[in-house]
This record gives sequence, structure tokens and C-alpha cells, in this order.
Amino acid sequence: MLTCSSVSPCLMVFVQVYKLPSERIYATYFGGDEKSGLPADNEARDLWLKFLPPSRVLPFDCKDNFWEMGDTGPCGPCTEIHFDRIGNRDAASFVNNDDPTVIEIWNLVFIQFNREADGSLKPLPAKHVDTGMGFERLTSILQNKMSNYDTDVFLPIFDAIQKATGARPYSGKVGADDVDNVDMAYRVVADHIRTLSFAIADGSCPGNEGREYVLRRILRRAVRYGTEVLKAQQGFFSRDQCIIYTLLYVESSLVKVVVEVMGDVFPELKLRETHIRDIIADEETCFGRTLLHEAFVLWDTYGFPLDLTQLMAEERGLVVDVDGFNVAMDAARERSRNAQSKNASGAIAMDADATAALHKKGVAATNDTFKFTWSQDHESEIKAIYTGTEFLESAAAGNEVGIILESTSFYAEQGGQIYDTGSLESPSGSFQVCNVQIYGGFILHIGSFSGQAHKFSVGDKVICKVRLFSAWPSTTVDYNRRTLIAPNHTCTHMLNFALKEVLGDHIDQKGSIVLPEKLRFDFSHGKPVKTEELRKIESIVNEQIKSELDVFSKEAKLSDAKSIKSLRAVFGEVYPDPVRIVSIGQKVEDLLANPENEEWSSYSAELCGGTHISNTREAKAFALMSEEGIAKGIRRVTAVTTYRAFEATDLASSLEQKVNEASQTDESLLEEKVTSLNATVERAQIPTVVKTDLKAKLSVLQDRVIKAKKKIAAENIQKAVKAASEMAEAAASGGKAYCILQIGVGLDTAAVREAVVKVMEQKGMAVLVFSKDEAAKKVLVCAGVPEKGDKCKQLNVKDWLNAALKPLGGKGGGGKGGLAQGQATDISKVDEAMDVAASFAALKLN
Ligand SMILES: *[C@@H]1O[C@H](CO)[C@@H](O)[C@H](O)[C@H]1NC(C)=O
Ligand SMILES: *[C@@H]1O[C@H](CO)[C@@H](O)[C@H](O)[C@H]1NC(C)=O
Ligand SMILES: *[C@@H]1O[C@H](CO)[C@@H](O)[C@H](O)[C@H]1NC(C)=O
Ligand SMILES: *[C@@H]1O[C@H](CO)[C@@H](O)[C@H](O)[C@H]1NC(C)=O
Repeated sequence: MLTCSSVSPCLMVFVQVYKLPSERIYATYFGGDEKSGLPADNEARDLWLKFLPPSRVLPFDCKDNFWEMGDTGPCGPCTEIHFDRIGNRDAASFVNNDDPTVIEIWNLVFIQFNREADGSLKPLPAKHVDTGMGFERLTSILQNKMSNYDTDVFLPIFDAIQKATGARPYSGKVGADDVDNVDMAYRVVADHIRTLSFAIADGSCPGNEGREYVLRRILRRAVRYGTEVLKAQQGFFSRDQCIIYTLLYVESSLVKVVVEVMGDVFPELKLRETHIRDIIADEETCFGRTLLHEAFVLWDTYGFPLDLTQLMAEERGLVVDVDGFNVAMDAARERSRNAQSKNASGAIAMDADATAALHKKGVAATNDTFKFTWSQDHESEIKAIYTGTEFLESAAAGNEVGIILESTSFYAEQGGQIYDTGSLESPSGSFQVCNVQIYGGFILHIGSFSGQAHKFSVGDKVICKVRLFSAWPSTTVDYNRRTLIAPNHTCTHMLNFALKEVLGDHIDQKGSIVLPEKLRFDFSHGKPVKTEELRKIESIVNEQIKSELDVFSKEAKLSDAKSIKSLRAVFGEVYPDPVRIVSIGQKVEDLLANPENEEWSSYSAELCGGTHISNTREAKAFALMSEEGIAKGIRRVTAVTTYRAFEATDLASSLEQKVNEASQTDESLLEEKVTSLNATVERAQIPTVVKTDLKAKLSVLQDRVIKAKKKIAAENIQKAVKAASEMAEAAASGGKAYCILQIGVGLDTAAVREAVVKVMEQKGMAVLVFSKDEAAKKVLVCAGVPEKGDKCKQLNVKDWLNAALKPLGGKGGGGKGGLAQGQATDISKVDEAMDVAASFAALKLN
């Protein structure tokens, strides 16, 4: 299978383009393995011998020259190019010997077998060559450095790390020579920040599962090395929180250097630099918070690796309870298994065995082209009946079953659009379809019979009636439901488009659901969407609705579809071929005829099998109702369309009016209004941007309320002090050592106390102040007796207060510094109380 075309070009590149001395180049090939009955790859050997002498074409065994991905899977012999960094010697014995002076720089794997579970090798039906060069290794050779890390691919990153952390400079030491591990930490941080930058630029994101979890671990490992070994200085970036946070922030600034170094060759890094930094900074912040929790919580909730927890615990002389961890882990697994097998809707589901059984019976995948023909009954034939565990020849009234037809006009739940409901009708019965799901191309109509005597058998002819109106069961397909769903589905496409327009191309659809009453869209984005951005997004969709754009759809070959520049596909999704293109405002034919045309990108084009409206005007209106984060780096928006959008905007306008009216209200009534409006706005189903605007307005009003209160408080103090001073003046000129008065500041304790204190300080006089709140039916009483001097020594402040409170039906509280205060409720007796207090004071002081 090997041809000259795969080995000679790489050799030519090294010798002719990079001018590597050819006498230092060695090639290796697979020398065969008797145990597995694999012959030597002499084809490769003979090809190398055309270019290199036999002394530099070397056979190796399975360990070095037979590539396997894992215990099972595609594999095959490989051949490699190695380079001797030193030269003028026979380096054959250093090849594949872990010698840093002779390194592998190119590898070609001939993928021709599949390693089966029993260990045997099965030839693959399609064979191919997997090949690649070591970019950093070649760089190190060309720059004459002994290590990848000494090249200009890494040095700028090291410089940046040094600046950011204040660690000692990188010194290129490895292993035992690198006593403080600082050089290793440099390498870890630099390598990992590169990995993260590239992976995030390519659309991935640290997360809790699979490859995303790998990214999360990489980030956290880098962070650990940065904090523990490089000791990024606390407060270095004057951001709050812990040291971890600080370092993490350092990391996201390293992205800039990576982009500087690699951005010219990998433009996607430049394009997504901000996004990469946001994701990393966000992830870092989160990680900072996780460090405080226990091992399992760390792992389960935050994806913090056990080994790192152990490492950290060890450094602090602690031990992680690994057995306990494993028990918790098993329990968590069990929980998530249960969560999975318990189907949310309790519906019958088909697994791979069930669909395989159908194939075996000769049943073909269901033809569902008819789902796009909305208004006609469709005749079909029953091909299979499934109970969830077995296939039946016929089914009668009783438990729920799933029916598979040759063809159907029902829409099975897919692509985020909910299934149709309706019925299957035949002379022998009526079967109510309450759920439709697709499994490996087989469409399962799940439901039950509406009457006792009803019965269906395989081979029966039935009419598919998708329900037209939700309110009238058992008419045709539920077209009205669909009529409700379609505007939302089309709006989902416009929303997806608008999100990318406003937030950037890194937005990837992470999930979407279109129900009759709900439109929800999840997408990747590292930070909350700003209000102004939401406003733009909403208005783009509404503009498109106003522009009355036609909605087109057409099937096309997947490859043709993917060649359309402006087309949006979901990252990582596997699409059928041919695939259906749904395009808004531009004919699919035009897109296909001119796939490179950038102008087309002003509207949405997506791969989608769902049902849509035929013109955007049918959506009538669109309102974004909420925006929130649902997982790290994933945001969720919900929206409504048609009359629901009108309802939302109508309600919003009426609330806006109320808030504007409130702003005209007198200060005294404002507080109550603001509090009640705040609660109403909080609950209201209104567009989220309006909600934000209204909350901002309310908070301005709230500030006014606070200011007004402060003003009143100041006025009260002034008023109280003035009244008390005047009264004290008069008392003094009358030769009295005390004064008693009533002030009208309600229950404003601060003002009353201030008045009392001022009189005590300025006049050295005993003073007692009453202040009523008529509405609250309460009176505040405050007494003050100077502690300095002998003048008032005979008067005990608490006794005096209690004497005054007694007629009012109250009792005094304590006080400090010669002050005592209390409240009472019998406000009609204030005059009497004033007299009592006067007599009491007169008795003691004269
Ligand atoms: C359970 O049913 C729902 C809808 O009824 C479907 O989306 C889901 O795939 C099913 N789950 C399993 C495990 O088959
Ligand atoms: C499905 O039925 C339509 C209409 O009869 C037909 O044109 C189409 O070829 C069928 N598709 C498949 C896959 O059999
Ligand atoms: C979908 O549209 C229908 C009207 O066509 C509306 O009743 C429903 O609320 C919409 N759903 C959302 C989420 O807007
Ligand atoms: C409105 O209510 C929220 C809580 O529901 C509260 O946090 C906010 O401070 C309130 N704003 C005003 C202006 O009262």
C-alpha cells in the first residue's frame, strides 16, 4: 500500500527546503513480529533505500514501529525520520534510544489493521496513511538548540511568565538539575497555555466531561505550578480574592503572548483572542473558589482532579480519604445512571439492539419526507410494533406501545423541535399518538388505543392524522401546534444568526429547544451578554421579521452544503447526507450556485430538518425574555414570538409608564411606590432588556428615596436641636436646672437624642424630650442628665424616664452616658406625663 508519494516528499522538504544535511538523517521501518505473525515492512525499507544508504535505514519492533491507539482500534506499522543533532558520526545506535541528540522528526503510520477485542488483527476495508511532523523539534534543529523549549517558540512566553510572576528567570534545567522545579513550572505553564489557546480557538472549552475535562485539568495543572512553584505574587494584579485568582489572571494575560508568537500562522488565534482570554479568566476565577472544598465535592461539582487534591493535601500534611472518595464516586455514578434510564416522559425508547432487530427483520428506515406536506392525511403500513422490550405481531388496548410505519407524516422530536401528536386510524381502531421519537432512522409512534375493541397488526394499512388543532383531538396532524412551533423555530435561526453577528463567531449552538410555549437557546460564550448586546440581538431579529423575508428550504449534498461560506452548522454534530438547508431571505439555489459569496452572510442559513414558517412576517414579533449562565462558558437565552411577544411588550410598556409616573411622585409617597413596583417588575414576563432598563430607573428612584430620607433626617435634627436649645435657654433664665419639652419629629430617635445631647453638653442641664407619631400611635421619650458636675447629681436618669413613661403606659429602657430612652403607646397622656416629669425633677433638683 505504501507508495513513493508518501515517503519522498517529507525527505525532500528536510533536505531541499530546510537544508538539513542528509548524512545526518536516519529512517526506521517496522521489522516484523513473529509472535503476531506480522511480516517486516520491506516495502517501506526498499523505498528508503532509494534515498539513504542501508546503514541509515533501520528496522525496529512493535514497541517502536507499530502504532496502536489503545487496546483496540485502528493500528498499523509506521516508519519514521530521525535526525542526528551532532553529525560526523554513526548515530544508528542512538536512534529510538531516548537520546536527546538523535530525535524523531517525522512519522508516517500505515493504518491498515483493526485490533479486535480478542487481540487479533483484522485488515481494514479502507487503508490510509496518517502522517505528521514535529514542528517544535524541527524548530529546535533549525535554531540549533538542544531543547524545544530553548527556541523562539517558547522563550517569549517564558519572558512573559517571568514578568507576570516575578519568579527567577528560566534557566533550561531539567530533572535533578532543576532543583527548585522552577524550570519545569515554566515549561508546564507555557506548554499548557498554548494548548488551551489553540483548543479554545478551535471551539472547545474547559468542561466536566471528555475532552473538555482534559482541558480543564490542563488549565488547573498550569495554575498549580504557577502558584505553588512560580509563586505568582499576591496582589500583583491588584485584583481581589485569593492568590490563585491573581495567578490565573496572569495566565489569561499569557494568551496575548501566545497570540503574538503564533497568530500570524494561525489567524484563528488572533480572531478569538478576547474569547480565549475570557474563557480562561472565567475558568480561573472558578478554580480559585474550588480550592476551599473537600476532595469529592471538588471532583463532582467542580471537576477538580483527585490527584491534585492529594498533592495539595500532602503538602499540608493531610491525607485524602480515597476510599470515601470512591464510595461517593460510585454513588454519584449510580445517581446519574438512574437519572438517565428514567426517561423524563416515561416514553418507550429503542436501543441499538432494538433497531438492529428491525434491520434483521428487513424493516427499512421510516420514510418521513411527508412531514413537510402539512395539510394532507397520509396512508401508510404498519411495519413493526414495539413494547419497549419486545416486538409484537399485533397490539390491542392496554399498555402503551410504539408503532413503526413504512412512512409517516408525523414529525419526530429532533433538531430541538418537539414531536407532533395526532392519531393513526384504520377500520380496526384509532391509535392516539402522544409522542414521536426517531431511533436510528426508525420513527416510533408512541401511544395507545382510544377504545377497548381496537387492535392493530403488522401489515395493516393506517392513515396518519397529525393533529391540526390542539383543542380538537383526533383531527389530522396537529398542524396548529406546528403553526405555534414554526414561528419559534424560524426565530431560533434568526436568533442564532443575530448572536453571531453581535457576539462573534465563537458562538456555537450547545442546545436548543422549540416547544409550542417555549424557545430556548444555549450557546458557548464566556461571559454574560451585556444589555446593549441583547438589545442589538433582539432588534436584528425584529428587523428581519419586519423585512418580511421568505424562508426557503431545500435538500442538498452535505459536501455542497458545507461549501456555503455563510452556512451555520453545529460544531461536532453529525449530519445526514443529503442534508436539508433552511435559509432565510435568500434562495438555497442561489447559495449553492455561489457558495463563496460573502454577501449572502447577511441572513441565516442553517442545516435543519425542522418545520418553519414561509415568511418571517408570520413570526410577527420577537422578544428576548431572559439571559443567564447555565454552565461554565455556556449561556442560555429564552424568547417568545408572535402574540406572546406582543403580550410581553405591552406589559413592558404599561410598566414603563408606571415607573415614569412614579418618578413624578412626591418624595413622601415615593418609597412605597418604588418598593411595590420593584417587586412587580421583578416578576413580570417582559423583555429582559426592558426589565434591566426599568430596574435601573427604579434604582435611580430608590436613590432619590434615600436622599429624601437623609434630608428629612437632617431637617429633623436641626428642628429638634433648635426647639430644645430654645427651651433650655428659657428654663435657664427662669433659674431651672432642667427642661422638658415636646418636639414634632415622630419616632426619629436620632434627632431626639441629638437634641438631648446638645442641651446636656451646652447647658449642663437635665432634659426630657417627648416626640409623638400620631399614625403609629407611639410616643418616644428620651431623658438626659449630665454626669459631670454636682448640679444634677440628685436626679437619676432612669428613674426620671420611668416616672415620665408611667402615665403613658410604658417602661423605660437603659442608656449610657447619662441618657435613657423608651417608648409608650398611650399618646393622649403626653401632657400629663410632662407634668409628672416636671414635678419629679423639681423634687430632686431643688
Ligand atoms: C426518552 O424520551 C424522550 C422523549 O420522549 C427522548 O428524547 C429520549 O431520547 C428518551 N431517552 C432514552 C434514554 O431513550
Ligand atoms: C420517500 O417517499 C417519497 C415519496 O413517495 C419518495 O419520493 C422518496 O424517494 C422516498 N424516500 C425514500 C428514502 O425511500
Ligand atoms: C411560539 O409561538 C406561539 C405562537 O405562534 C406562542 O404561543 C408561543 O408562546 C411561542 N413560544 C415562544 C417561546 O415564544
Ligand atoms: C428590588 O428588589 C431586589 C430583590 O428582589 C433588590 O435586590 C433590589 O435592591 C430592589 N431594588 C429596589 C430599587 O428596591
